[in-house]
Amino acid sequence: MNNVSGALPEELQSRLNDVARRMDIDEEELLVSLIESGLEDSEAALTKRSRPEPPQLFPNQDVTDDHPMSPQDTKLPFSFIDLFSGIGGLRLGLESVGGRCVFSCENDRHAQKTYESWFGENPAGDVAELSSSGAIPDHDLLAAGFPCQPFSIAGVSKKNSLGRAHGFRDRTQGTLFFHLAEIIDRKRPPVLLLENVKNLKSHDRGQTWNTIRGTLEELGYSVFNRIIDAADYVPQHRERIFIIGFAKDVFGEEPDFLFPAIPEGPRPRLRDILERSVDPKYTLSDKLWNYLQAYAEKHRKRGNGFGCTVAKLGGTTRTLSARYHKDGSEILIPQRGRNPRRLTPREAGRLMGFPEELVSRKAQVVSDTQAYRQFGNAVVPIVISAIAEQIVRTMRDVVVSQSANGCILKAGTTPQKESSALASQLGRRKPR
Ligand SMILES: C[S@@+](CC[C@H](N)C(=O)[O-])C[C@H]1O[C@@H](n2cnc3c(N)ncnc32)[C@H](O)[C@@H]1O
Repeated sequence: MNNVSGALPEELQSRLNDVARRMDIDEEELLVSLIESGLEDSEAALTKRSRPEPPQLFPNQDVTDDHPMSPQDTKLPFSFIDLFSGIGGLRLGLESVGGRCVFSCENDRHAQKTYESWFGENPAGDVAELSSSGAIPDHDLLAAGFPCQPFSIAGVSKKNSLGRAHGFRDRTQGTLFFHLAEIIDRKRPPVLLLENVKNLKSHDRGQTWNTIRGTLEELGYSVFNRIIDAADYVPQHRERIFIIGFAKDVFGEEPDFLFPAIPEGPRPRLRDILERSVDPKYTLSDKLWNYLQAYAEKHRKRGNGFGCTVAKLGGTTRTLSARYHKDGSEILIPQRGRNPRRLTPREAGRLMGFPEELVSRKAQVVSDTQAYRQFGNAVVPIVISAIAEQIVRTMRDVVVSQSANGCILKAGTTPQKESSALASQLGRRKPR
């Protein structure tokens, strides 16, 4: 017990000790946090992180273990595939609501290495080689954080006038989205969960978004989209677009889906994810710090916001990018009496909301450079958890008894028979 907490009454001391242990921080750190936020706020935040066991909908089935990131009251043992998987941010979020990953694909060997180490599964490589192969098993949900590229519309109207069944083949040819659309067309997953950068909608003057939405609609999906800022979940401003598709032949014309409400309570703060003792190698050299300041000043004079940012410990950082490893300039941590420092890879992982067991030194199986890159490319798993909870609510209306292909959702246009026990277990809301 340190000096400050040692002066507290015994009961409070023991409570402090207990809370600090559960949060994996030391007591002094916790005390500072308590003083700043008030005891009640801190307890509320703790409760949110304290991983209560949710009710089991399918007690006899092999549901993925509850994920520690957020309290869940809704789970379904649906199957999903994880395309452009990176290090599995989508996977973690989907697993937290009971999802079971049956296939993954990622072509970067460093990301594959991390993925294999974390999930015990080596993802398949290039997505382009998958769309025509039979490698992908049936699944209830297709998840993909695909890179966005411009689309060319040359020749589309002429080809469409020839009466082709799927204009998307012409419109999206040569893009990664084309391969995604091919997989969707062939496998017909009932649910899609796609993620991309915020400016997808303005990319190529709206052309890219129109092509993507048009293609998904043409393939028979109702499309929902929303830009969500992860700052409500982690101390980082990170806006991403989430696109959810529900197959109309499974969910009907108007699926009952809502994106998650913004979480209540104060936003997380940067100081809560920082390590207490950090290797001096993360402190910027005088040369780099002087260069970054001069660079920032030059841009400030030109009236634009580029340059470096020393983050506020009580606030939210800028977006962690895949280039963070270069100089760390977008998120610098202030240090008393010293130049600022970069985030450590562990802090970068925490800033993305990855669970402690995956951001520890032991869990890092690639260089610092690759680790920053991987976190900078990832999605925030707890944001996916929140979205996935909402998806599960919609899914519950079309669940059937577990079928031979391991899927639990009604497939295609022919409704499968559902056991009445399962229907009541699911608390079916209304017949469709
Ligand atoms: C935006 S990241 C997705 C990150 C992921 N959602 C996560 O949480 O880590 C896009 C990923 O697609 C991968 N990728 C790019 N082209 C690919 C291809 N042709 N086949 C498979 N993966 C590809 C990249 O290596 C990158 O990891």
